[in-house]
Amino acid sequence: MVSTPAEVAQLRQQALAQVAKAQEADEVEALRVRYLGRKGSLTQILRTLKDLDPAVRREVGRLANEAKEALEAAVADRLKALKLAARAREAARIDVTLPGRRPPLGRLHPLTRIMAEICDIFLRLGFEAVEGPEVELDWYNFEALNIPPDHPARDMQDTFYFTDKVLLRTHTSPMQIRVMEKRRPPVRIIAPGRVYRRDSDMTHSPMFHQVEGLLVDRRVTFADLKGVLTEFVHQLFGPEVSLRFRPSYFPFTEPSAEIDIACVICRGEGCRVCKITGWLEVLGAGMVHPAVFEAVGYDPEEYTGFAFGLGVERFAMLKYGIDDIRLFYDNDLRFLRQF
Ligand code: DAH
Repeated sequence: MVSTPAEVAQLRQQALAQVAKAQEADEVEALRVRYLGRKGSLTQILRTLKDLDPAVRREVGRLANEAKEALEAAVADRLKALKLAARAREAARIDVTLPGRRPPLGRLHPLTRIMAEICDIFLRLGFEAVEGPEVELDWYNFEALNIPPDHPARDMQDTFYFTDKVLLRTHTSPMQIRVMEKRRPPVRIIAPGRVYRRDSDMTHSPMFHQVEGLLVDRRVTFADLKGVLTEFVHQLFGPEVSLRFRPSYFPFTEPSAEIDIACVICRGEGCRVCKITGWLEVLGAGMVHPAVFEAVGYDPEEYTGFAFGLGVERFAMLKYGIDDIRLFYDNDLRFLRQF
């Protein structure tokens, strides 16, 4: 039978230590019953105080009551702590019934998309897509295209040269020569790809994309050129968009034309994009120059043909309403995710 202050103090210490160590709520409850229950050891002491020697009764009674209070508080604290820990463990558990996290889906770059759209239209019209080198010889990029050595297009201002004779192609037109060198008419190709020029601002990039077109056969006329390009514009921008063929000059075509479309931003009303004119220049084209046929060994008396070239970035900017060409190359996901 506990009866001295030292024994009460020791009992208190032991009980508190056990509660602090308990890992389960059940364990804490068992300890509460063991010390504070109806037959608990502290309860027992308090109940039998009256049997004690009056000399120690007061002291033992005070200590036992304090021990009871301390233990009750410790039990409550421990239960609360265990509950919080259990809740945290629950929260950290993986819930296998939740739907999985979706991996971020990639999407096509706006230039890739417009390029595919442009090529698809010509493929449906019966053209075949071909590709060629971006590092090109002077012969294909200039000479065979009837661009003489003193032509301003050859200026160092525009062309990236490796050597006198080797350069980065400044347009996709050299593909006309590469194809005609290898094939006999009929020829009906498009040549999409990268081209390079020393130029950089809101609407010019040192690397950009073009799609070249070439159709050669007997009795090909300017009317065929008009028909194909009109159909192309109508498929890409809609049948209500009107076209305008303007006389122009390119060394490799004669006659040459630049083709404007009614501004797709303001519908021809006049705006910042079309510089108030209501028209946008989108294509260069013309009938293949006899000198070009001679350079590849085609007889200009037997064959005629038309060629055209377009800038892909310009089409993408018009189609998607983008006003700065550099956005295509910044790889900013906030921009790219919009497509
Ligand atoms: N190569 C020209 C350029 O880059 C575009 C061009 C104009 C291509 C007329 C052609 C054409 O095939 O016939 O500015």
